[in-house]
Amino acid sequence: MSLSDPVHPPSALPAPPPQLLFVGGGNMARAIIGGLRASLDAHAFTVLEPDAVARAALERDFGVRCVAPHEAKNLAKDLAHPQHADVVVWAVKPQAFAQAAAMLAGQGEQALHLSVMAGVRSASIAHATNAQRVVRAMPNTPALIGRGIAGLVATAHVTPGDRALVERVIAPTGQWLWLQDEAQLDAVTAVSGSGPAYVFYFLEAMTAAGVRQGLSMAHAQQLAVATAQGAAELAARSTESLAQLRERVTSKGGTTHAALTVLAQRQVAQSIDAAIEAATRRARELGEASSGG
Ligand SMILES: NC(=O)c1ccc[n+]([C@@H]2O[C@H](COP(=O)([O-])OP(=O)(O)OC[C@H]3O[C@@H](n4cnc5c(N)ncnc54)[C@H](OP(=O)(O)O)[C@@H]3O)[C@@H](O)[C@H]2O)c1
Repeated sequence: MSLSDPVHPPSALPAPPPQLLFVGGGNMARAIIGGLRASLDAHAFTVLEPDAVARAALERDFGVRCVAPHEAKNLAKDLAHPQHADVVVWAVKPQAFAQAAAMLAGQGEQALHLSVMAGVRSASIAHATNAQRVVRAMPNTPALIGRGIAGLVATAHVTPGDRALVERVIAPTGQWLWLQDEAQLDAVTAVSGSGPAYVFYFLEAMTAAGVRQGLSMAHAQQLAVATAQGAAELAARSTESLAQLRERVTSKGGTTHAALTVLAQRQVAQSIDAAIEAATRRARELGEASSGG
């Protein structure tokens, strides 16, 4: 360095990369880690995972450090590093949360906690981890191919910087939206969390109907799936409402009109409403059961 080189104040140094501890190394953790590895070094990740086969696969596929439950108590020093914006990502099944949290007891209280677990309330996470900064995410299965959407909700202590970090962690799984009220996550669960199953159900029915009208199974399925893909993409890009898009392809006396008339007579919209109401209710019940109230 020559004497004429500019001297940067410490504040101009790039922020150290976040350290991420994943609790659970299953499908959702893999989707996030796989996406983040494009921008984050392998050293940023630690995965606590009980299954040796899953640990070996994570190490092989992403080069990340994996630890078994008996090594969990040594994770404290990683989480306590004052220079790092540490995040604990909870990616176990909800029924495994209590046991996993007990494993990390007394560690990570200063970290930001991001949960993708269905149904486990922020208050339960804060209580079990003794942490104050908790964000809950409700993702959906297209997250596994980077095309998901997640509802996010933050506790009061979560800072704008924390939110930016959460968005960085969630970005590889697809889109996200922030909600004001944790109770809305039950509706998110019912609409987009469980939603892929409704779409598969609809596509199965369309495929079976196409076969009944003389198409091969393969052709009927290809037509149904590509139609859903194209229509969803069109709706996502359009400035018109869903109703306008529907009306645009429904000329009076035509084929689409004939089909939609039957759907209306059979009250399909009302059935979908009742289905989503039932899913919202069930999400609320499961949340209450997991928080013991
Ligand atoms: N997959 C999705 O698209 C999706 C969508 C919305 C919400 N979610 C939620 O995301 C969470 C994770 O789902 P997932 O699909 O990733 O599940 P998953 O594939 O079953 O992954 C969970 C992982 O956690 C491990 N685990 C179990 N107990 C543990 C413990 N005590 N400590 C550390 N790790 C432990 C499991 O290991 P073992 O296999 O050895 O038990 C498994 O590898 C769930 O709460 C789910 O509801 C997932």
